[in-house]
Amino acid sequence: MSAAGSIEARPLTAKRSGALAGRVRVPGDKSTSHRALILGLLSIGETTIEGLLESDDVLRTAQACRQLGASVERLAEGNWSVRGAGIGGLVEPEAVLDFGNAGTGTRLMMGVVGGHPISATFDGDASLRKRPMRRILDPLARMGAQVVAEAEGGRCPITLAGARHAAPIVYQTPVASAQIKSAVLLAGLNAPGLTTVIETEASRDHTERMLRHFGAQVSVAPHGEAGRRVTLTGQPELRPAPVIVPGDPSSAAFPIVAASIVEGSDVVVEGVMLNPLRTGFLTTLREMGARIEAMQPRQEGGEEIADLHVRAGELRGIDVPAARAPSMIDEYPVIAVAAAFARGETRLRGLSELRVKESDRLAAVAAGLAACGVTHAIEGDDLIIEGGKGEVRGGGEVKTHLDHRIAMSFLVMGLASRRPVGVDDTAMIATSFPSFIEMMRGLGADMV
Ligand code: S3P
Repeated sequence: MSAAGSIEARPLTAKRSGALAGRVRVPGDKSTSHRALILGLLSIGETTIEGLLESDDVLRTAQACRQLGASVERLAEGNWSVRGAGIGGLVEPEAVLDFGNAGTGTRLMMGVVGGHPISATFDGDASLRKRPMRRILDPLARMGAQVVAEAEGGRCPITLAGARHAAPIVYQTPVASAQIKSAVLLAGLNAPGLTTVIETEASRDHTERMLRHFGAQVSVAPHGEAGRRVTLTGQPELRPAPVIVPGDPSSAAFPIVAASIVEGSDVVVEGVMLNPLRTGFLTTLREMGARIEAMQPRQEGGEEIADLHVRAGELRGIDVPAARAPSMIDEYPVIAVAAAFARGETRLRGLSELRVKESDRLAAVAAGLAACGVTHAIEGDDLIIEGGKGEVRGGGEVKTHLDHRIAMSFLVMGLASRRPVGVDDTAMIATSFPSFIEMMRGLGADMV
């Protein structure tokens, strides 16, 4: 896959399957994996990472870390070593930083470059080239970075000249976005004094947790009813710290929904991270009546994890409040699939951010539902789905628009719908969950 290029499409069809059964382990968390590599780059000495997600998105970030001066090595499956260049010690990359499909890697690394006196060009595939970057470039400009070149509308390819002397700022994010928050904090690492990010709704806090783990001073205070005020003390000396990456809840959502809708299923998903800013989908599924039990809760890598035991059962439609969106932002496509099988109506509120993900996910989900005979409507930023009481016609050919989560969600739908569901491309699944098809087949999923 080259910048803005595409690889050959790999279509796949999922068919109604017998009960899914078994124990599986999902790969490491994507958000944590990107951050572990980046903080490794920004520390001096060796950072070891266990359970790194070896997906295309994360490998792009590893490569970008090398281009910025780190030595990054794979020691064994999931085990990586990063010898960093340290804050202030980055080198200017000679070649374009090609992030492929990865919005998180791009935006976090823009923060890193934005705080350093170096220039870098960021680019990626056709999906990444459509994603809005002004939300990152605006606060970075306030810290002293300059956009040297950009495609129309503040899109990639973007050449960013980082600040000569980064200035600390107080920044209120316009939307709840961990990517914006993280970019500002990462730029703030090379600024003197305090950099503060205020969010009116809390977004995932992996950057804050990991910065502390590497020895930075980060204080977090409540802001309003649901928000946070995060303050970082700049120019710390980050100490390399071993990172254990827990299982990705966003990936776990696929086998969990599959086991909930395929009759008779009984599945355990092991080692899933249960950070409360990531588990809105579990709250939602439980409100829908899903039978999910957390077993052996324990701590790993500074996060609570557990094995999730899921059994198929009847689901009912519910009203999901907009305030829950930041904690389940990547799970709406697969929750929409669960809602299609529920009894009654589900209303998913406040989905405006879905329009700027790897695809316009609101449109892509609606089109997929339409192709599979599911009655639904979009009202403003809400998606309303009329459940089929356990029955969905299926039979659609779903367009995935270079979006891994659209592909996985509709394959899950096909496992329980009357007629098979095809997706036009599964290649993108490798950006977050390379073992998805094999793992689902291992549970008994019929995918051909
Ligand atoms: C991520 C944050 C979310 C999420 C993305 C990963 C992160 O994006 O959708 O998949 O690791 O910070 P936003 O912060 O833009 O909502």
